[in-house]
Amino acid sequence: MGFALIIPAAGSGSRLGASRPKAFVESAGQSLLAHAVGGALRSGLFSHVIVAAPVGWLDAARSQVDAVVESRTMTGPVPQTTVIAGGRERWASVRAALEYCGDAPCVFVHDAARPAAGPEVFGRVAAALAAGATAVVPVLPVVDTLRTSVGDELQGGVDRESLRRVQTPQGFRRDLLVAAYAAWDPLSGAGPTDDAGVMEAAGHRITAVAGEERALKVTYPSDLRLLAALDPDARTAHGPNGPVPRVGTGVDVHAFSSDPERPLMLAGLEWPGGFGLAGHSDADVAAHACADALFAAAGLGDLGAHFGVDRPEFAGAHGTVLLAEAARIVRAAGFTIGSVAVQIVCNRPKVGRRRDEAQEALGTACGAPVAVAGTTSDGLGSMGRGEGATAIATAVLY
Ligand code: CTP
Ligand code: MG
Repeated sequence: MGFALIIPAAGSGSRLGASRPKAFVESAGQSLLAHAVGGALRSGLFSHVIVAAPVGWLDAARSQVDAVVESRTMTGPVPQTTVIAGGRERWASVRAALEYCGDAPCVFVHDAARPAAGPEVFGRVAAALAAGATAVVPVLPVVDTLRTSVGDELQGGVDRESLRRVQTPQGFRRDLLVAAYAAWDPLSGAGPTDDAGVMEAAGHRITAVAGEERALKVTYPSDLRLLAALDPDARTAHGPNGPVPRVGTGVDVHAFSSDPERPLMLAGLEWPGGFGLAGHSDADVAAHACADALFAAAGLGDLGAHFGVDRPEFAGAHGTVLLAEAARIVRAAGFTIGSVAVQIVCNRPKVGRRRDEAQEALGTACGAPVAVAGTTSDGLGSMGRGEGATAIATAVLY
């Protein structure tokens, strides 16, 4: 019979600071959750997968987990999948998930925040369980010198030879972990930060197996860059000459309004003469196209996905405000913005006359060089008839 796999994925990722919960941030075109489930399933060990997701993300979690299960990279039994709402703390998410493990003899708990753990480490944990261990954790040695801090004073060194960094996946006899959680009082002290801690509180011996550096825990934005470098599955990772840039395109079109009082906002500037572009926002097609190009290059969706009804504070915001927020989001996902170029197709205004100002305004918003060009469509089509303006942008990210 297969084992059960619990994936705690209900955290918000406050230290990562992305615009979505950490498990749903993407690396190499897939969410951290999908990576974590995929790595686990490649071990062929699991007949049940239970994901604890944030409320509001249950459907997204379900479709992503089902897509991984249906993909052809896995071996072993086709697992049954369950998605539940997680709790306020990690332990509450795991405790809730334990009820859905059926009668599997062993349960593994593996954080979505460790997306690159490979099937080998799952195999080592399973082997230790098969050899009779009741609680198994992967560990790595400590390489830094350690000291105790008291205020700003450092006191006695700590013997690092006997210390270990503990990772997931952790594996347990299911009946014993269920009993340990039932016996554990969450109000007692600070509480363990992992499930081995709950087993230890119940008096069980914790057995170590070798962990792996690539199973790093994604906590801060820079960890996403480390992940791309360490994860052999990461499609963006590295070519023979270093990191491979990612490119994205964004297009936006708005019609001119017939209102002489409507200001014309384009490329982060107000242009005299009224009859501005129409829309709920300032309709700055150039800024919007740049923001969409950034999202596309990062594989993070589009303007509508980020500034839709769930972020009312951006309703009607200026294009440069949206562009600045888009730049923040792609940086929080671990990318560096190389440059952006945008071309505006319209009869008026003559963009080239204020090119330097426009480049300055858009470049300041996204914190990277933005090149601005203008052209007409030679009298052809709706742009040629002066009915509106189109902008086409390209962004390069690392
Ligand atoms: N987790 C969970 N339920 C919670 C809190 C955390 O399932 N209430 C999960 C996270 O989704 C993550 C794992 O536990 O996969 C480890 O937690 P951590 O790395 O701390 O993630 P977050 O709590 O999301 O991050 P932060 O502490 O920065 O907010
Ligand atoms: Mg946390």
